[in-house]
Amino acid sequence: AQAAALEFTVTKNLAAKSPAERDAILADPGFGTHFTDHMVDICWSERGGWHRPRVSPYGPISLDPAAAVLHYGQEIFEGIKAYRHADGGIYTFRPEENGKRLQRSARRLALPELPVDYFVQSLRELVAVDGAWVPSGEDQSLYLRPFMFAKEAFLGVRAAKKVAYYVIGSPAGSYWPRGIKPINIWLEQTYQRAGKGGTGAAKTGGNYAASLLPQAEAYERGCDQVVFLDADGYIEELGGMNILFVKKDGTLVTPASDSILDGITRNSILELARDRGLTVEQRPVSLTEWREGVASGDITEVFACGTAAVISPIGLLKSDEFEDAQPIGELALSLREELTDIQYGRREDTHGWLMRL
Ligand code: PLP
Ligand code: COI
Repeated sequence: AQAAALEFTVTKNLAAKSPAERDAILADPGFGTHFTDHMVDICWSERGGWHRPRVSPYGPISLDPAAAVLHYGQEIFEGIKAYRHADGGIYTFRPEENGKRLQRSARRLALPELPVDYFVQSLRELVAVDGAWVPSGEDQSLYLRPFMFAKEAFLGVRAAKKVAYYVIGSPAGSYWPRGIKPINIWLEQTYQRAGKGGTGAAKTGGNYAASLLPQAEAYERGCDQVVFLDADGYIEELGGMNILFVKKDGTLVTPASDSILDGITRNSILELARDRGLTVEQRPVSLTEWREGVASGDITEVFACGTAAVISPIGLLKSDEFEDAQPIGELALSLREELTDIQYGRREDTHGWLMRL
């Protein structure tokens, strides 16, 4: 059922950045360090449901020191981009998919499910006031970060009865400081990101917290990202991206697992590949299959994908015992071009994936 639209109260930021300051940021936004002038929030309480929808000046959030999120990590988030098209219009990509995933994450973290219509409306409300922050340079976008957390002040361990939902926006260039060069991946054999029955499929802060130490160790070894395995040696995903393998015959293979994120970029790539007549397999992939496939030439490309990272070829798999150079092919970059052409309005959106904000 369609939820009735919310009535947002809008408070303009009187200290908003000047057009000149904003343009200076948009000229080279990097990733995740600059924020727009406003933010959106909606409150939830057990008694009152979703209420007090607001657009306010971007700024610090005041929280009780006993707020449950600070102690037990009851938090979830999303990541989705707004793209500027050549006609000046601002579009986003498959927002209902992110809205539904936020609901699945909410169920796992015992948080309330935000109606998908409210989710989409929350993105629209932010872009309505901060549309000038959507950059127009190549591969640039406004990265939107919706998130929800337990704000009830209570130290007992149970699901919170007071929750906050926010959306902030951050102008983004490439996630990779080095551009789209093939990335080096560290094979993580000590730590796991998620376990069977755990929170791996939810987009919740704790999963990322668990990945930070391995990620730091990977940086020390000259790697950009970590690939996590499950307890049986099957490939899961990277710290913030899904992974795909291309076989000699063009088949695309990606891990099936209950403990990884159901990536929207990955799902879209699989659909584009099917449209091209390629075979797509979602099934367990062992480390052995990966390494032997590369050694025998049966695997011809390996790449990572996600909203922030888009699509990035993997150039090296490194561990304490070995360094396997990865074959570089054409498919990852050709799929990247097709996907970004759709997102930026340079190619017809035959799947109905875009939504004008
Ligand atoms: N896996 C993890 C752990 C992620 O953080 C992300 C990023 O959102 C993805 C996969 C890719 O998901 P999506 O393509 O929906 O952004
Ligand atoms: C995203 O791609 O949206 C993510 O949340 C991943 C994170 C590494 C930025």
